[in-house]
Amino acid sequence: MGRIYDATWGRGFSALYDFCFKASEEAGLRDMRRDLLREARGRVLELGAGTGLNLDLYPDSVQDLTLTEPDPHMIKQLRKRAAESGRSAEVVQAPAEKLPFEDDSFDTVALTLVLCTVPNPPGALQEIKRVLKSDGRFLFLEHVRSPEPGLAKWQDRLEKPWRFLGDGCHCNRDTVAAISAAGFQLGDVERPKFPKVVPIVEPMAKGSARVPA
Ligand SMILES: C[S@@+](CC[C@H](N)C(=O)[O-])C[C@H]1O[C@@H](n2cnc3c(N)ncnc32)[C@H](O)[C@@H]1O
Repeated sequence: MGRIYDATWGRGFSALYDFCFKASEEAGLRDMRRDLLREARGRVLELGAGTGLNLDLYPDSVQDLTLTEPDPHMIKQLRKRAAESGRSAEVVQAPAEKLPFEDDSFDTVALTLVLCTVPNPPGALQEIKRVLKSDGRFLFLEHVRSPEPGLAKWQDRLEKPWRFLGDGCHCNRDTVAAISAAGFQLGDVERPKFPKVVPIVEPMAKGSARVPA
């Protein structure tokens, strides 16, 4: 399977994560997360859940929530936040490319700001397809390659230093094309801007996809 995560900062990144995202969360990122996750239904799986910033944004109707995270430092914070939240959620250490779940077992798979970082996005997308029920939905909020060639060129130029700064994050991935190429049928995809970040990580995609019948 190869690498399961490409973190460069380890414990430091997870310790600073919530602080680094605070301005963006307050300027609209949190609202985008909430708006995405209000679509979650039934048995829900979140991948790369990080420190658990989405935990309290799921609708109360979501009673069966599983959170995965491969990074040993992130998962400590995730477990702590899950325990303090009062929400019942199972936390499992696993990479998106190798999910320890049965085929056709979730109604919703959600992820936010994760496909920019996983070492093998096609492998992760095949796993999402495998664990989703045939009528299930995949919800995503990701920062992506810019549709503007000028900005995309800068994303390519700065990809390497950004990957180091961003703990393995690739700023130039065309994630919507990858979701489509993996055989998902895309629903509506919005193209918001990531607030309060440098331009190379501003372009985002927020939407849903299904496995075609
Ligand atoms: C930018 S953080 C996003 C965290 C969280 N989803 C959020 O929205 O705040 C990227 C996350 O992807 C996780 N990650 C890295 N490699 C992964 C993999 N192979 N499978 C699943 N998650 C991975 C990282 O550990 C980290 O928690």
